[in-house]
Amino acid sequence: MSEDKKVDKNGREKLIVQGETEEDQILSISLRPTIIKEFVGQSDMVENLLVSIKAAKNRKEPLEHTLFSGPPGLGKTTLAHIIAHEMGTKITATSGPAIERAGDLIGILTNLEKGDVLFVDEIHRLSRVVEEFLYPAMENFQIDFVIDKGPYAKTIKFNLKPFTLIGATTRSGLLTAPMRGRFGIFHHLEFYQPQDLAKIIERSADLLSVRVNKDAGIEIAKRSRGTPRIANRLLRRVRDYAQVKAKGDINEDIVQSALKAQGVDKAGLDPIDRKVLGAIIEYYNGGPVGISALAASLNEEQDTIVDVVEPYLLKGGFLKRTQRGREATKLAYEHLGISKARQKELF
Ligand SMILES: Nc1ncnc2c1ncn2[C@@H]1O[C@H](COP(=O)(O)OP(=O)(O)O)[C@@H](O)[C@H]1O
Ligand SMILES: [Mg+2]
Repeated sequence: MSEDKKVDKNGREKLIVQGETEEDQILSISLRPTIIKEFVGQSDMVENLLVSIKAAKNRKEPLEHTLFSGPPGLGKTTLAHIIAHEMGTKITATSGPAIERAGDLIGILTNLEKGDVLFVDEIHRLSRVVEEFLYPAMENFQIDFVIDKGPYAKTIKFNLKPFTLIGATTRSGLLTAPMRGRFGIFHHLEFYQPQDLAKIIERSADLLSVRVNKDAGIEIAKRSRGTPRIANRLLRRVRDYAQVKAKGDINEDIVQSALKAQGVDKAGLDPIDRKVLGAIIEYYNGGPVGISALAASLNEEQDTIVDVVEPYLLKGGFLKRTQRGREATKLAYEHLGISKARQKELF
């Protein structure tokens, strides 16, 4: 579930998603909408974005720097590509951890044409030095670089063509204030409603040439943790199952069996979700427990729990975040079939 970024020799990201095969990743890209009309849901945001795009095009200016925040898999990268497409410009994609030195950016920035998009994924993970190098680039489309050393050192200013920086982050809270201040447009992506996910599944099923009846589509949607990436992934897993165990067409029964085999339960929680809730209940008597202790006892990265697992558990009401740490809610006990009374006996 967690995403590890690996970078190729040109500094471009290669996304490795745990549990996704290479074929999955290719399919995932092929399912990505390229025009804004194909982007399902998030209608208020899309409406606002369309106004910004139209206005910028009318003025023949690049779109203002834009920041997308929200949990993984909700469409941040997709939107960056859609914006470039709608603006009729090129996109260059990189990510915070991929840029090691400010120098890595000089080539990228000086190659941008007017209106091009520079997409920086995980922008909260840029190093301080790189971030500071970006400030004048974002503000005045200028970069400063120092040539020579010691008493002969000189700062040279280089003018860039006006471009649009699009940043994506799973945690806007980790972005520094000066960086945040340099964006003109902000959008936070929310988890999707099941009816929107059902539309995404319908579209993907068409593209993959699989037949999914309406109820089956809705069932997959309900179990997708409000996340298009997961909806597409479950659809592919259900497709595999149907291909092997049935005649290929997908109905609700097949969805139930296929998702059961994947460890996805009725509420759409997966094994990691249940492991996190189970640990809070069984090791920490329901909490509160600090995130670092929780991560350590699960042998998981703290960031994975905070960025990937927790947002949906919070939204679904399975987890509460308090000053003293994370607490499992009554719903979590019910969902895992653990009663507080029985738990008291355990401790
Ligand atoms: N609103 C949407 N409509 C249709 N498909 C979507 C939408 N949002 C995301 N997707 C699909 O989900 C996948 C993950 O989206 P992505 O943009 O990579 O998410 P993020 O960058 O936020 O992690 C993409 O392959 C895309 O096909
Ligand atoms: Mg992304």
